[in-house]
Amino acid sequence: MADTMQGLRRTHYCGTLTESDTGREVVVCGWCQKARDLGNLIFIDLRDRSGILQLAFDDGSDRAVFEKAAGVRAEYVLMAKGVVRARESVNEDLPTGRIEVFVTELRVLAKSQTPPFEITDKTNVKEELRLRYRYLDLRRPEMQQAMMMRHRIVKIARDYYDQNGFLEIETPVLIKSTPEGARDYLVPSRVHPGSFYALPQSPQLYKQLLMLSGYDRYMQIARCFRDEDLRADRQPEFTQIDLEMSFVEEEDVMAVNEGFMKTVFREALGVELPTPFLRMPYREAMERFGSDKPDLRFGMELQNLSGLLAGCEFKVFAGALAAGGRVMGLNAKGAAAALTRKEIDKLTELVKTYGAKGLAFTRLTADAESSSYEKFLTGEEKSAIRTQLGAETGDVLLLVADAKPDVVFTALGSLRCHLGEKLGLIRPGDFKALWVTDFPLFEYSEEEGRYVAKHHPFTCPKLDELDKVENDPAHALARAYDMVLNGCEVGGGSIRINDPDLQRRMFRALGFSDEEAQERFGFLINAFQYGAPPHGGMAYGLDRLVMLMLQKESIRDVIAFPKVASAAELMTMCPAPVEPKALEELAIAVTRREEPAAGEETI
Ligand code: AMO
Ligand code: AMP
Repeated sequence: MADTMQGLRRTHYCGTLTESDTGREVVVCGWCQKARDLGNLIFIDLRDRSGILQLAFDDGSDRAVFEKAAGVRAEYVLMAKGVVRARESVNEDLPTGRIEVFVTELRVLAKSQTPPFEITDKTNVKEELRLRYRYLDLRRPEMQQAMMMRHRIVKIARDYYDQNGFLEIETPVLIKSTPEGARDYLVPSRVHPGSFYALPQSPQLYKQLLMLSGYDRYMQIARCFRDEDLRADRQPEFTQIDLEMSFVEEEDVMAVNEGFMKTVFREALGVELPTPFLRMPYREAMERFGSDKPDLRFGMELQNLSGLLAGCEFKVFAGALAAGGRVMGLNAKGAAAALTRKEIDKLTELVKTYGAKGLAFTRLTADAESSSYEKFLTGEEKSAIRTQLGAETGDVLLLVADAKPDVVFTALGSLRCHLGEKLGLIRPGDFKALWVTDFPLFEYSEEEGRYVAKHHPFTCPKLDELDKVENDPAHALARAYDMVLNGCEVGGGSIRINDPDLQRRMFRALGFSDEEAQERFGFLINAFQYGAPPHGGMAYGLDRLVMLMLQKESIRDVIAFPKVASAAELMTMCPAPVEPKALEELAIAVTRREEPAAGEETI
């Protein structure tokens, strides 16, 4: 039977004690990080969420206390009473490294088995094991600091939007399925066998209805669910800072949110973000950076070389241009030493994963020049390309040609980001934010054989070219904007349609008959006949924002209990089959079953 807390209460958190507490009697609680038994001296590093504190036991200790300390192992839960004193050997690496607590009373509140990995930031255990024992992983100071920072960011968000007149209103989690975008997670109804709720992909429709209901400014820390393929910056359930405003246009939404970003960076990190953010039309972002979420922390912009190659005889370039495509390139400045032929082969494989058919290069080392394409060009073509790319000795020029401009953008855009990291062009702690604006209204889905909304079907088209909705959907632009931070889409939103006729036109353009639109979105169309104010808003991916602010690699590092790539949660092992009785009640028959996730997982 372990000791109890009876008669003792904590007076301080471990990490809060300083030299000014010397001589003070304190009671501290926490986990044993490490116990060192030097025979006549015992030191225990006690850890709680505020930090680590050294407990000391020596010849002067009560025998019973000393013996109890000798039995303490890693991760035992302890409560200790004692007196703060100066340390003999100072540890400059620890904030509490100048003091220790000489213990007069020690209680072991719980014992612990040896954990499967050491609870320390310097861990190189596989993430899979960390996720299986997430409750232990979450003890690591790094994780605790991430969780505390996440809390702080949410708190700052609530306060900021409150101060700006936003009301936090909860919207339902069991809603009608209106899939448009990702797949919905469905929840069967027991009361209505054969009918299903969906979990919200976002509170989009409800927040728009709240504007119609006159709430004027809404915000919510909203949990969202999307059954889509996971990546490092995507989870099947994630959190948005979601907001909506009435009687506004783009600039109003942007201004309020630049204010938020400025506030949260200042208060949580002590970093000053310059505002207003740069605004860059989608088209320009694609042309210059090959991405709708450009990373502005480094240059290496893309160049369109097509114009220089009009009469070119090199079949790779000529073929792409003749098919209405492009030849574009970038200059990896001074990278000739780093980008050997072997490295360029690897880059070629990389661009191929983005659909490019190859990567043409020129390597300008001091003693030799080599190129995969210059021999096929005229002298003028070759030097025109070099001039446009600003080529100098030491540079590597990398070119992609393709009949589809989007393939060229994506391949070179991804290559650019890869090189930015690889060549060390990104300064740690640098934050570069911008708005990407003027998005296309639609994108063509090969899979569905129709246009789908690029953002969502409630986004308002640009008002001066409404006829494009029907006449030229490929070139119609939306009143949509994304907030991009360090090459990551941290948030996005739009000005919405508030006119029921325009909303019907949008649904028709998306290939819904009036009946289908009525069936799926009737409640919205009907509601909009009762006076919807002009409105717009946006949502941040909270997990992404926290990840970026803390400079973490993955949103899993800032989510307490994340899922892995197969959408499984490794600690509780879900999803999992349920009792046949539960299925019977729901009138559900399972037609195909797969063994639940086990063993090796792709993270
Ligand atoms: P959108 O779909 O762009 O817009 O989502 C807003 C932001 O949410 C984050 N995000 C994700 N984060 C983690 N995992 C995911 N699977 C995931 N999917 C999206 C991104 C993204 O920018 N209702 C609209 C917003 C609006 O128009 O007001 C919406 O949900 O950071
Ligand atoms: P080939 O004549 O097909 O061997 O191509 C000559 C060079 O052009 C190769 O070394 C490739 O690096 C490059 N190349 C091939 N296809 C492409 C492409 N689509 N875009 C850019 N370079 C390419």
